[in-house]
Amino acid sequence: MDLSYLYCGVGDARHLYTTLLVAGSAPRKFFQALQLTIIDLKAQALAKVLVLFDLVDAYNKHKQSEGAASDAALSVARSMAYIFAGHFYPSSVHNAIQSTLTSLIEKLEKGQPILPWLYVAEVSREPIIATLKEWKGPSVDAHNPKEPIDWLKHHIREKDSHEMLSALQMGYDIPKPSVPSGCEDDRLFFDNACILPPPKTSDMGGDELPQLLDAVKSKLASASSTLVDHVRQHWKANVTLFDLAWEKQWKSNPALKGDDEYLSGLLFDPLDVLGMVVGDLPPPKGPSPGVIDRLGMYFAKVADSITELSSILTIEVIHGEVADIMEKLTYDCFDYRLKAPGAAGTRPDPSKFHKKFDHIHLSNIP
Ligand SMILES: C[S@@+](CC[C@H](N)C(=O)[O-])C[C@H]1O[C@@H](n2cnc3c(N)ncnc32)[C@H](O)[C@@H]1O
Repeated sequence: MDLSYLYCGVGDARHLYTTLLVAGSAPRKFFQALQLTIIDLKAQALAKVLVLFDLVDAYNKHKQSEGAASDAALSVARSMAYIFAGHFYPSSVHNAIQSTLTSLIEKLEKGQPILPWLYVAEVSREPIIATLKEWKGPSVDAHNPKEPIDWLKHHIREKDSHEMLSALQMGYDIPKPSVPSGCEDDRLFFDNACILPPPKTSDMGGDELPQLLDAVKSKLASASSTLVDHVRQHWKANVTLFDLAWEKQWKSNPALKGDDEYLSGLLFDPLDVLGMVVGDLPPPKGPSPGVIDRLGMYFAKVADSITELSSILTIEVIHGEVADIMEKLTYDCFDYRLKAPGAAGTRPDPSKFHKKFDHIHLSNIP
């Protein structure tokens, strides 16, 4: 039996990753092929999925040649965690993502397959390439807000107080910031400088960082602002959080110009994200690792599942509006799906893609 799932408004794609994670360990007698189709109105959401899949592939290559515990494999897993949930990341992650962007742009521009099980529909390539180029280009460096840490701290505080106020008005318990066990340092450093600290066993943040973090933990005078200055100088903003096309559109609308709500995608708490993603997974054995290692382990498991599934897996990526795409799928309006079947073994072969799905995930799209 084939299994086919459709994700309408895939967003941060955590449902997609968790499906992969679960399917990788499911008994194969239940399905012989797995086709997942993901749709989103925002090219940014799809581009981020491609970046993470490219890193999944890099992780699998390092794992094969050097082992899962090698520095190279761990560093890719941690980079995936930062890209998925961090607002800022150390420069080593920035370098990893920049080379991923270069290779994705080149493959998409040449119409080459990115990975044997991944198919980016022709209609979707242009907007995704444009997003990848924006993330690579200098415009992200000159990006507003000019003081992103201050901006984020201020707006997250404001969002928290709104949530508290509505909880009070509705008679609910006042929500508390989440602190999963083992993530106390993450809470402290996110609240102080909007960063997730690199795992203690890694040198991702450079030599100076451990001392600066210790100073914040010991509540030394001005430790918090010294840490913020260090992050400003040595860390980079997570480019995948920016949607410059949407920002341009927002700013050109006289009714909206000036308001910075176009940056509302930045207003999330990475410790909540951890809970949403790994909530159902058993906690790791031994002393609880922090957010980056726990998410890194999650992506390592996703990567293992992809290796397990790779011969039966297809992921189709379509950019656009859900109702429109559903209609086109129903009435066979996508040319690429109508091509003559590829030679036996050609992968991915869009002529074999499903138009009926066993499961449709609609989420909360309008
Ligand atoms: C709130 S997120 C949901 C993410 C994820 N599916 C979940 O449930 O956690 C909504 C996503 O749907 C996308 N979206 C909203 N309206 C859409 C539409 N009409 N067609 C396609 N995507 C849409 C947005 O761009 C966003 O990425």
